[in-house]
Amino acid sequence: MADGEGLKVEKNYHLNTPFGTDSGFHVKGAAHLDWGMKRHLTNIFHPQSGNTVMFAFDHGYFMGSVSGLERLDLLIPQLVDQVDVLMATRGALRTCVKPDFRKGIALRVSAGSSMINDDLSHEIVSVDMEDAIRMNADCMAVQTFIGADGQLESIDNLSRVINAGNRYSIPTLGVIAVGKNMERTDQYFKLATRIVAELGAHIIKTYYCEKFEEIAAACPVPIVVAGGKKLPEAEALTMAYRSMQGGARGLDMGRNIFQSRHPAAMADAIGKIVHSKFTDKEAWEYYRETAK
Ligand code: 5RP
Repeated sequence: MADGEGLKVEKNYHLNTPFGTDSGFHVKGAAHLDWGMKRHLTNIFHPQSGNTVMFAFDHGYFMGSVSGLERLDLLIPQLVDQVDVLMATRGALRTCVKPDFRKGIALRVSAGSSMINDDLSHEIVSVDMEDAIRMNADCMAVQTFIGADGQLESIDNLSRVINAGNRYSIPTLGVIAVGKNMERTDQYFKLATRIVAELGAHIIKTYYCEKFEEIAAACPVPIVVAGGKKLPEAEALTMAYRSMQGGARGLDMGRNIFQSRHPAAMADAIGKIVHSKFTDKEAWEYYRETAK
């Protein structure tokens, strides 16, 4: 039932109309979930702002020890006060994060590729549900490769994790990976985010792009924006600000924090945009003051 040329009516994202079923709960699309799910989502999304600063340092699962993540044991203690959630592999969490860490945990549960592969899109589910429960994960992160060679297996992985998570009230974070032959366009992200949300993911991680507000409006669950490759700090703060203005409910940032000369100040400045309504200019001034 593909639409033929000329049959589609113009799309209307109703950008000025808030999402319909929030019913007082602070996480988009979660109003009808059960207590356990809401509890985990509240460990991720702050109940006052409804937003989150996630610090992603799961890169080692396919990139090894990337620059800035050589010594997790030294880096993570600098950042735990500045962020709401740590996103990592179970190996990194168990070895380098103290169990008395009281904020959210986004546990990476898919794996299978490495930087020396030509095609990164083939993954498996690498963590048992029981181990995610043991680690008290607040959500489980699965890579999805819409349009790539590994699309079917990544949708299979995502669906298995969502099904298992639903049995134990643990949300799933669907990570939109841009497949080898895909481009970072709003058309691609509209397609991929909506597919992953309709499959049942409770949170979506994707990239910022033009017309981001339409992507966010058409996605019935919260979007957190990935940082991507390291940018100058001022540009990364502008990207964060535009993402929030466009309807993101937070950032899930890695390299733009841990490859900054001042990771804690950068995470702190991102937090000001996400939770305290700072503009990018104000956050940049704040970064410059705190990075001294
Ligand atoms: C890998 C991931 C990473 O966690 C994330 O993309 C890395 O964050 P950043 O791009 O900000 O360094 O999900 O696909």
